[in-house]
Amino acid sequence: MILNLLELEAAAKTKMSPMAFEYYLGGANDEITVFENREAFKRLLLHYRVLTGVGERKLETSLFGQKISMPVIVAPTAFHRLAHPDGERATARAAQQADTIMTVSTSSSVSLEDIRASSPDTKLWFQLYLFRDVEASLEVLRRAEAIGVKALVLTVDTPILGRRERDIRQGFHLPDGIQMANFKTDLPKSEGSSLNAHTHQNFKMNLSYADLAWLRNQTDLPILVKGICHPEDAIKSLEYGANGIWVSNHGGRQLDTSPATISILPRVADAVAGQVPIILDGGVRRGTDVVKALALGANAVALGRPILWSLAVGGQEAVTHSLELLRAELDSALGLCGYADLHLPKALLG
Ligand code: FNR
Ligand code: LAC
Repeated sequence: MILNLLELEAAAKTKMSPMAFEYYLGGANDEITVFENREAFKRLLLHYRVLTGVGERKLETSLFGQKISMPVIVAPTAFHRLAHPDGERATARAAQQADTIMTVSTSSSVSLEDIRASSPDTKLWFQLYLFRDVEASLEVLRRAEAIGVKALVLTVDTPILGRRERDIRQGFHLPDGIQMANFKTDLPKSEGSSLNAHTHQNFKMNLSYADLAWLRNQTDLPILVKGICHPEDAIKSLEYGANGIWVSNHGGRQLDTSPATISILPRVADAVAGQVPIILDGGVRRGTDVVKALALGANAVALGRPILWSLAVGGQEAVTHSLELLRAELDSALGLCGYADLHLPKALLG
């Protein structure tokens, strides 16, 4: 029985090939940032209040005018079919059941259209990687618009792929029958990590603010910039048209020894000063982590690996179960902190 999100990893390990498990698990180089994302949450302590008369807690919130049942959404992660044959279809249905947002990755293993067909009402966002071939990026953006995604998430921390030694060791590739479904292509054959070869061949390496300005002119969707870890990049992103800031270090998979996301959130939130919503991801596993992120200025958090581990453990049902576990933990943590809704003061962290 899975009692919390931290238990998922070990359970998933027994269900997955070592290659897929290590791909999901891994980070860049020494995985210092993967570790720090968790450690920094653990170091923060909650200075709760008592006798505040809190009864029922209210967890609902909204992002870009879209209501969701809690401030927890699904982060974009590639290749869900490495975890479960239903892949992103199962994730989308689980997000629908939990009434929250799923962010579909450019590198999904089920196409945008097939995800939509299997889950007509899921609140979807689309994560975009900009390719050297910008026409290919535009085409997939148009398809995302056509299936009714409500926001675009431009990932900016991956102009080149972090060095993931687990993937090099395992010779990471996509097994037969799993593709980059939006493009009906396989990853290129290569020694070491074929994801690295793909990124090197196809991603826009010289990504810059000019690309954000360009993208701003291509779509009416709100654009969130994902991979922000510096307050000045948050400010500059807003200047170039971003409608949301997604604080992320890619789950420690890109620049190793970059700071834990929760540790830099307060400075980013100060810079953003409430102008646009802030999403935070990286190591969020407990309801108390969500409380800490909200108190330090996030509007919502996103889950990466716990969703993938859940898929491996039991498909759609297990993903729903994990989202409900986190909802219950958040509800309890809020009540024990002495708050009835998501408006939390920084002072909660002492
Ligand atoms: C990711 N992440 C990611 N981000 C993105 O913008 N596009 C993508 O395709 C992927 N793919 C991906 C695959 C896998 C296996 C992982 C673990 C992560 C990063 C993801 O959106 C998120 O930033 C982190 O996963 C958050 O950290 P946690 O929750 O995994 O600790
Ligand atoms: C990853 C890419 C696909 O982190 O974003 O594996």
